[in-house]
Amino acid sequence: MLAQVLKLLNYLPPEFTYESSHVLIRSGIINYRGYGIEMPVEISDKLVKNPIGLGAGIDKDGFLTPRIVRTGIGFITIGSVTLKPRPGNPKPRIVKYPSLRAMVNAMGLSSRGFADFLGRLPSILREVRDFNTYVIISLAGFSISEFIYMLNRLRGYGVDAVELNISSPTYRGSWVSDRDYLGELLRYAESFSGTLFVKLPLGVDIDFYRWITNTVNKRGFGLTIANTLPVKESRISVGYGGLSGYPIYPIIRSLVSKVRKWGFRNLIIGLGGVLYGWQVIDLIRSGANLVGVVTAFAYEGPFAFNRLFKEILMKLSEKALNNYLVNTCR
Ligand SMILES: Cc1cc2nc3c(=O)[nH]c(=O)nc-3n(C[C@H](O)[C@H](O)[C@H](O)COP(=O)(O)O)c2cc1C
Repeated sequence: MLAQVLKLLNYLPPEFTYESSHVLIRSGIINYRGYGIEMPVEISDKLVKNPIGLGAGIDKDGFLTPRIVRTGIGFITIGSVTLKPRPGNPKPRIVKYPSLRAMVNAMGLSSRGFADFLGRLPSILREVRDFNTYVIISLAGFSISEFIYMLNRLRGYGVDAVELNISSPTYRGSWVSDRDYLGELLRYAESFSGTLFVKLPLGVDIDFYRWITNTVNKRGFGLTIANTLPVKESRISVGYGGLSGYPIYPIIRSLVSKVRKWGFRNLIIGLGGVLYGWQVIDLIRSGANLVGVVTAFAYEGPFAFNRLFKEILMKLSEKALNNYLVNTCR
C-alpha cells in the first residue's frame, strides 16, 4: 500500500515528491523493514553483508540514514556534505522522465553544512550500528583546503569510508579541467588513513579517465563510477543538470570494465542507471565490488531495495550464488 503511495507521488511535481518522500521516510510513516540478502563482500578488512546500497544525493544531511538502513542494504552514502551551508540552486531543480526511468537534477549541492552534520554524526552512527551497514560519507569541496579540512575533522568518528565528490555538474568541470590542482588534492588526501573513494564524472575525455585511474590506483583509493551525465534541460532553473537513471547504464558498465582492463586494482563502486537485479550482477561481473542506486530510490523509495534483492535471488542459480560467495570471500 505504502509502495503504491510512493509510486503515485511520482505523478506530482518532482521537487514536491522529493521533499514529501523525505518527510514520510524521516517521520517513520514509511518505516520499511527489509531483510536484505547475504552476499558478503570484503571491503578493506570489513565484511559488508551484501554489495547493494544507496549512492550520494538522497540523504544529503544524514536524516534518513537510520530509517533507510532497515531495508537490509549493505552500504549507504550520506551527502554530499559541503563545508558551508548551501541552499542549492533555485527551483525547479528536478525533471523526471518516467518512461525512460531517468531524471535530470541540478540540486546545486544543497547541504546544511559540515558543522551541522558533524554535530549529528555520532548519533547517526549509533543508530546505524545494529544494522551492520557500511557507511560512506560523500564530501563536496570547492577548494583543496575545504576538502582537507573536512577529511581531517572526520578522523576518529568511525565512518567506514569517505567519497570525494569532484564530479558534480555544479562544479561546471572545474576539478576536471585543472589536473594539477586535482592531483594535488589527491596527494594531500593520502594522509587520510581510512578508505577513500574518488567519484568520477561522466562526459569527459578518455585521456582524463586514464590519468585519474592511474593516479587513484597509485594512491590506493577506490573509484565510484560515476556521477550524472551533464546535459542541457531548459525546464531546470539553471538550464542544465545531470542525467541519471537507466539511459546512462551502458556508459557506466563500459567505464567499469575499461578501468579494470587498464589495471585498476582497488575498490570500485558501480553507480548509475541500475534499476534491475540483473544489472547488479552484470556490474559486479564487469568489475564493481559494490553497486549503488539513486534514481531507483527516487522513483520507488526504500521499496526499490526489496525488489532488487528478490530479482537478484531469482537470477542467481544456487550454483552461481555459491561461486559468487567463494570468489568474493577469498
Ligand atoms: C536528486 C539527485 C541528487 C544527487 N546528489 C548528489 C550529491 O550530492 N553528490 C553526489 O556525489 N552525487 C549526487 N547525485 C548523483 C548520484 O549519486 C549518482 O551518481 C547518479 O544519480 C547516477 O546513479 P543513478 O542512475 O542510480 O541515479 C545525485 C543524483 C540525484 C538524482
